Amino acid sequence: MLGLRGVSRAEIEVLLSTAARMRQVGERRIKKVPTLRGRLVVSLFFENSTRTRNSFELAAKRLSADTLNFSVSTSSTAKGETLMDTARNIHAMQPDCIVIRHGFAGAPTLLARCFPFSVINAGDGINEHPSQALLDMLTLCDRWGSLDGRTVAIVGDVQHSRVARSNIFGLTTMGARVLVAGPGTMCRRELSGLPVERRHTIDEIVGEADAIMMLRIQRERLGKAMLPSAREYAAFYGLDLDRLERCRPEVLVMHPGPINRGVEIGAEVADGAQSVILDQVTNGIAVRMALLYHLLGTGPGGESGEES
Ligand code: CP
Repeated sequence: MLGLRGVSRAEIEVLLSTAARMRQVGERRIKKVPTLRGRLVVSLFFENSTRTRNSFELAAKRLSADTLNFSVSTSSTAKGETLMDTARNIHAMQPDCIVIRHGFAGAPTLLARCFPFSVINAGDGINEHPSQALLDMLTLCDRWGSLDGRTVAIVGDVQHSRVARSNIFGLTTMGARVLVAGPGTMCRRELSGLPVERRHTIDEIVGEADAIMMLRIQRERLGKAMLPSAREYAAFYGLDLDRLERCRPEVLVMHPGPINRGVEIGAEVADGAQSVILDQVTNGIAVRMALLYHLLGTGPGGESGEES
């Protein structure tokens, strides 16, 4: 699972429907099934993470897989070991799946081409973050049933956002219309190569969207000149209560996290009745269980043990 570009509607539907079933495991008193007993899932995170890393670990554990967490700060990466040498050594430990987050776009694809284990992209540079987009789509499908004909607005640093790219591919494949808005440096014209409609300000999209996905400014991937002051950014692109009141009454507010309260989203909006931000986090576990199940389990029709 390297990205959602080119993934078919039927494939996304299968993943979302498996995720909806997997969610039931988390609702039981004993939140564990034996499906992936004896399988080894290794997390290789070269960038920080709270939600993705922990929910992949929890997903693997709920499926009874063994887990190994590789931490860059305490590994030999800090002594100069390359990604490929690290991967060769992890491979020698006989993993079934590697979940990788890396600052370079294409790092997961490189591993997938060179090694026999399954690879899940947990975010590569500004390229893709497919499990995030799947959990976002599951959250929207929970509320709407289907994404067909819905309008989802993505606001902020679209240019540097792997979350935005995966969502653009996934949402449009599933029949939604995607609007994007952000400062010129973070939402450039080249985006028109993607299947989106570009608006210049958040005020141009608030009345049109069924859901608004607010993005964090990717400071780690930005030149200094690209960012106005946080105050100015909030004034032009932040979703505050005043703007929320001008949105459609049933609009859903989303954010992949981590959120910067008072910058791209007001605290009252993030914590308000229309926010589904924490639903996104809960759905992240189910979606990641579904991905591990389809990659490592025997798959539909086989003896999966899923219902055990
Ligand atoms: N949404 C997301 O990728 O969050 P983390 O960086 O905490 O994993």
